[in-house]
Amino acid sequence: MPVITNINDLKRLYQRRVPRMFYDYAESGSWTEQTFRENTSDFDQIRLRQRVAVDMTGRSTATQMIGEDVAMPVALAPVGLTGMQHADGEMKAAKAAEDFGVPFTLSTMSINSIEDVASATTKPFWFQLYTMKDTDYVSRLIQRAKDAKCSALVITLDLQILGQRHKDLKNGLSAPPKLTPSTLLNLATKWGWLAGMARAHRREFGNIVGHVEGISDASSLGAWTAEQFDPSLDWGKIEKLMNEWGGKVILKGILDAEDAKMAAKLGADAIVVSNHGGRQLDGALSSIRMLPEILDAVGDQVEVHLDSGIRSGQDVLKAMAMGAKGTYIGRAFVYGLGAMGQAGVTSALEVIHKELDTTMALCGERSIDGLNRDNLLVPQGFGGRWA
Ligand code: GLV
Repeated sequence: MPVITNINDLKRLYQRRVPRMFYDYAESGSWTEQTFRENTSDFDQIRLRQRVAVDMTGRSTATQMIGEDVAMPVALAPVGLTGMQHADGEMKAAKAAEDFGVPFTLSTMSINSIEDVASATTKPFWFQLYTMKDTDYVSRLIQRAKDAKCSALVITLDLQILGQRHKDLKNGLSAPPKLTPSTLLNLATKWGWLAGMARAHRREFGNIVGHVEGISDASSLGAWTAEQFDPSLDWGKIEKLMNEWGGKVILKGILDAEDAKMAAKLGADAIVVSNHGGRQLDGALSSIRMLPEILDAVGDQVEVHLDSGIRSGQDVLKAMAMGAKGTYIGRAFVYGLGAMGQAGVTSALEVIHKELDTTMALCGERSIDGLNRDNLLVPQGFGGRWA
């Protein structure tokens, strides 16, 4: 068993063990990848204020997200094709999250279906919805998520069309992979992955295949999004979906104070400040840089969460001290999953928890609720308006 001390250890193993096509899918941003890079480099600009001689006994990272108890304010983000990173990846990641005490969000574009994940877990998970032209199909998805007792619907707002990630086009990304000579050459070095996949419950998009008729290519994320996603999504349609669901709603993909105000007005339970991990609008500012302005606009009306760029417990602390009420990890858990399956996801959560706990202690804080902007040293103008 390798000694894992940080998320990058998992990433190195992940890169070795998972087919290139799926590593590239996770590890890409759109176009120049500027936003993808700045999501992490902007976190690095924020420093921490060391405090001493504060009793650090009895610390806890436990808190709540949308009224649900969490062992730390870190949910697993919805990530498409997770079941291609490791056999039954969504079932395993959901189980690791449940055992750890953090929320798991299942992507519409998952490999394991809603029902598979429900069968692998005992507590409710969250379901992420992409809005599609076929409203009957969307209604059926919503009903399936209700039947599976999902406790929140996460509606993604920033992917009506898919941002271009060059490598996915060059690799011919698909689930399952199409067996071209270069893919076969790469798969020949991934025996562990192949052995797992041979026994997997599913190797196709589990929420789609068998649930929709007349799709031209159900194995391609690019083809499916171009053909099926609803480019006319607007606030009126979002409100209708929220009513159809009738339960807790998280609106994901907000990066602008005006949009945040609209989401708060609709009565969302939380919004996620996100640029989709730098995978959609390249050139957008990082989530952590936009967070202060969005908090100033709606922080007293709606729970504000953040994703895009979290790779450590220190990043979690920075977002929480800035005023977020929760964070999400996508790539950080996928590295763990690809490296070591369920144990790898647990390892990613343990790494982040330890970093968060130790950093809290050295900043002189004993609880998540106690974190505040005084814990941070933020460069002047960091969260200021760009004109
Ligand atoms: C969404 O499914 C993505 O690939 O970013």
